[in-house]
Amino acid sequence: MAPRTAAASRAGTVRTQANPLRAGLRLEKVPEPACIVVFGATGDLTHRKILPALYNLRRVGLLPAETTVLGFARRPYTDEQFRADLKESVVAHSRVPVQEAIWDDFAAGIFYQQGEFHDPDAYQALSRRLDELSVARGTRDNRLFYLATPPSLGPTIIDHLGRASLDVEGRGHGWSRVVVEKPFGRDLESARQLNRDVQRVFRESQIYRIDHYLGKETVRNLLVFRFGNGIFEPIWNRRYVDHVQITVAESLGVEGRGPFYEEAGASRDILQNHMLQLLSLVAMEPPIAFAADDLRNEKLRVLRAIDCDWTDERIARDVVRGQYGPGWVGGKAVPGYREEPEVAKDSTTETFVALKLEVQNWRWADVPFYLRTGKRLAKTATEISVQFKQPPLALFKELRADPEPNLLALRIQPDEGILLRFVAKVPGLGLDVRSVNMDFTYGSSFVSDAPEAYETLLLDAMLGDASLFTRGDEVEAAWGVVSPIDSAWEALDQGGHPPGFPNYAAGSWGPEEADRLVARDGRRWRRL
Ligand code: BG6
Repeated sequence: MAPRTAAASRAGTVRTQANPLRAGLRLEKVPEPACIVVFGATGDLTHRKILPALYNLRRVGLLPAETTVLGFARRPYTDEQFRADLKESVVAHSRVPVQEAIWDDFAAGIFYQQGEFHDPDAYQALSRRLDELSVARGTRDNRLFYLATPPSLGPTIIDHLGRASLDVEGRGHGWSRVVVEKPFGRDLESARQLNRDVQRVFRESQIYRIDHYLGKETVRNLLVFRFGNGIFEPIWNRRYVDHVQITVAESLGVEGRGPFYEEAGASRDILQNHMLQLLSLVAMEPPIAFAADDLRNEKLRVLRAIDCDWTDERIARDVVRGQYGPGWVGGKAVPGYREEPEVAKDSTTETFVALKLEVQNWRWADVPFYLRTGKRLAKTATEISVQFKQPPLALFKELRADPEPNLLALRIQPDEGILLRFVAKVPGLGLDVRSVNMDFTYGSSFVSDAPEAYETLLLDAMLGDASLFTRGDEVEAAWGVVSPIDSAWEALDQGGHPPGFPNYAAGSWGPEEADRLVARDGRRWRRL
């Protein structure tokens, strides 16, 4: 997806791949040289995702040689120590083995700046360092500020960037952009406040709110699938679609992130962002162009059409929360959530949520969207399935059971691909029918490796293409869907009605109530 915006095309130079077949005939653009300032440079995200992504972009020639990385954090480090540390992480986390010569070349552009996030002088020093590096490395004063810090530091850093005039663009300066990681706020109110804080310093066009699901190859393909083919769009509506299911299942637990997860829970961690983004891509109208605001306008319209009138009765009926107890995953006994390190013994944080949503617009009225996500489920799988209505007349009356309805499953990960289920006659003299699958898998159809989501997103941010980033109003609309549910749960817990947790065993498919949620409507979750 994401043919670049006009602005991005101007900014980038077009580079044809040596072998267009390998690259799937894509014309890749190389951004202008820039300095990427990573706040929280010694943290996990920098080491596991950001630097491996930058290294890989450099490796395939999608970042110019002048590209510079300036890590900013509290710890005292020299440039050399920082480089050595990063090398270890990149070796451990890069999707392809690290090549010494390419690393050395890339690492020569990595620097470190020690500073306290609250100290105005640190930003003056940062500004001077950026000026020096711009001259020494030829980064033309272009700067990408990446906030890879705990969310609570975001407003402070942004405020100081503004005070040090690091947001300024043009008039002898290059461009200046800021990348803000999720979670963007913890409810509607805090997201609004955070938007105000960021927008006080940066214009919306300079702000890149990351949701890494949007950078996944299969998620980007969703729009190509819908709008690049003529045959699906005419049936993509309430006349033909019975319901839609979106599953983001993880067999992993909270992986040492107890304190973070205690604050977040499945609703804030996955539902508010990754899942609602998937839903908006599935349900949106065709945009008038593949430009950032056209796409985001359409996604916003979907989010605004979701019925957010959450009464307590409706929450009790249409939303299920769960928390895993001990169980077995992949043949290994695993502890329950409450036994995880730094998790309260009586925690009411949900590690599972399933719900039924309605998108109340012309296209989708009365088509339920069932969403479920959870940790420590039987399997790791993200899938969107669109189930179609049965044919209007059951002609094959002598069959023992109704044939299964047509289904289109978009496998986001793993085993990325698209499956279409339809009914076929079983060979033989009688008339027996059975569901069969037509299955496309990326692995066997394309020879090129898919980039990591962070590679795509970092490249886009440097090119100035915000198509795959969420806009301020979109984030708020998504909080508008989940905040009332989170608040109702909090009120119940505090009012002496805590949920009966744990209510599902690790390694299962979640609480039984989740099955009842769909069974009540005569449907069932697709087996993954
Ligand atoms: C993150 C969540 O945003 O997404 C994690 O904070 C989750 O809890 C992760 O595990 C899932 O991402 P992916 O790319 O592995 O599906």
